[in-house]
Amino acid sequence: MTRVSDAMPDTDRPNAARIYDYMLGGAHHFAVDRAAAAQMLERFPDAARAGHANRDFLRRAVEFCCARGIRQFLDLGSGIPTVGNVHEVARRHDPDVRVAYVDIEPVAIAYSREVIGDDPLVTVTRADLRRPQDVLAAPGVAGLLDRSAPVAVLAVASLHYVAPEDGLTAVVAAYRAALVPGSAFVMSHGSDDVDDEDAAAHIRELAEVMRHSATPAYVRTRAELLDALAPFELADPGLVDIRRWRAESDLPDAAVYGAVGLVR
Ligand SMILES: C[S@@+](CC[C@H](N)C(=O)[O-])C[C@H]1O[C@@H](n2cnc3c(N)ncnc32)[C@H](O)[C@@H]1O
Repeated sequence: MTRVSDAMPDTDRPNAARIYDYMLGGAHHFAVDRAAAAQMLERFPDAARAGHANRDFLRRAVEFCCARGIRQFLDLGSGIPTVGNVHEVARRHDPDVRVAYVDIEPVAIAYSREVIGDDPLVTVTRADLRRPQDVLAAPGVAGLLDRSAPVAVLAVASLHYVAPEDGLTAVVAAYRAALVPGSAFVMSHGSDDVDDEDAAAHIRELAEVMRHSATPAYVRTRAELLDALAPFELADPGLVDIRRWRAESDLPDAAVYGAVGLVR
């Protein structure tokens, strides 16, 4: 497991935050990240578009949570800031929204702090999402979010980095235990358990490239994802491809499932 105290970026190995930033057209990546992204695009030409589809899903899910009255967000694996950051989307509904961003990647943390500046309602914390108690107790999270009121936990394209031996179900259950009724858990996750065989093969190859990175990634079956989401009541339309979660699209499935779990 990566040591959270290592605050220098690892420039020898590619990293999820920086590869994703490259795919989205950002400027915060190193040569190793671009090389890994090129390998991915060769194997999975739709990877960049799937990244944009994921950001669209994130935006729709945040808007959905805001429409339900949620005013606090804990964004796990928030990444390098790009268009449509959570606090920007949520503030269109209410300027007093609170957002706690959490990531493990030093470049993502440094740039997030630069972008956010001095904002009393937004924090940026370097922590490991696989350690829920550490995340929840971190000053940037515990000091910002009022856990007696609803919170939306966002785990958007960030649970791939929970290894099978770390236990996804236990990690999700630990966050669920911290939420009061009215809260939500937003998840998107790559899967090779999809109808389109090409997309399934592509996403397996993408995980294979990531296996050699600083942040190894794992794809999961639909049943495994539903199992992790079992503590929640899924909002319509349930766990579906991100391109079809409360949206219509002519494009093929992204091989990434998305869902919003509600705490009743
Ligand atoms: C594919 S990006 C997703 C970014 C953003 N959530 C989105 O959907 O646009 C995955 C992010 O998870 C972060 N990450 C990976 N492992 C992590 C861990 N153990 N704890 C916290 N963040 C992690 C990476 O650094 C990266 O920023």
